[in-house]
Amino acid sequence: MAEPLKVAVLISGRGSNLQALIDAFGPQVADSPVKIALVLSNRPDALGLERAAKAGLKTEIVDHKAFASREDFDVAMDREIRAAGAEFVVLAGFMRLLTEGFINAWKDRMINIHPALLPSFKGLDTHRRALEAGVKFHGCTAHFVRHETDTGPIIAQAVVPVLPGDDEAALATRVLRAEHQLYPLALRLIAEGKVRVDGERVLVAGAPRADGIMFNPAID
Ligand code: GRF
Repeated sequence: MAEPLKVAVLISGRGSNLQALIDAFGPQVADSPVKIALVLSNRPDALGLERAAKAGLKTEIVDHKAFASREDFDVAMDREIRAAGAEFVVLAGFMRLLTEGFINAWKDRMINIHPALLPSFKGLDTHRRALEAGVKFHGCTAHFVRHETDTGPIIAQAVVPVLPGDDEAALATRVLRAEHQLYPLALRLIAEGKVRVDGERVLVAGAPRADGIMFNPAID
């Protein structure tokens, strides 16, 4: 078997996507194509740190408040990531803007998950804005990271319906369930060498093809 892809997962909070990655690729998984070499948080109180520790993963806190500039903070993170032997960065609810230097250093080796179907609804409050816009489908996107927030080559997306009576919480829950399946899938495709970045687009080889048309409301 090929060597697993060694990744650092960067978090700021709850860590439910981290948990999905742990369930898919944690130390309990034999022959995993991914090894989580480090879980790094910028917040000492992030719940995700407990999830990581419980799974027996190496954790580090790099508290952004301890640094005079974003540059210094990113340099410190970069140092920890490399010291852990990670060769790939997975943002999972990491709530700091990254500097140009950091993004350049990890170009095409850093991914993010966004709770909307990009390029729609970049930024925060995606579920509220999707409800306000009246879209009938919503979802989530796994993508490589570029300079502009929530842009970058799209690896995979998952779609959920927006249903009558949905409020923000109901929609968020439905999207989050999709995120927990999508992010491990996207990372697996990368680790298995099936993903190629071609300029600003991603080509995925050897994955099952999506098929069918979805209607919302559904057709009888
Ligand atoms: C998720 O909705 C993710 O899409 C966004 O931040 C949230 C993180 O949630 N980038 P969690 O910490 O993984 O539970």
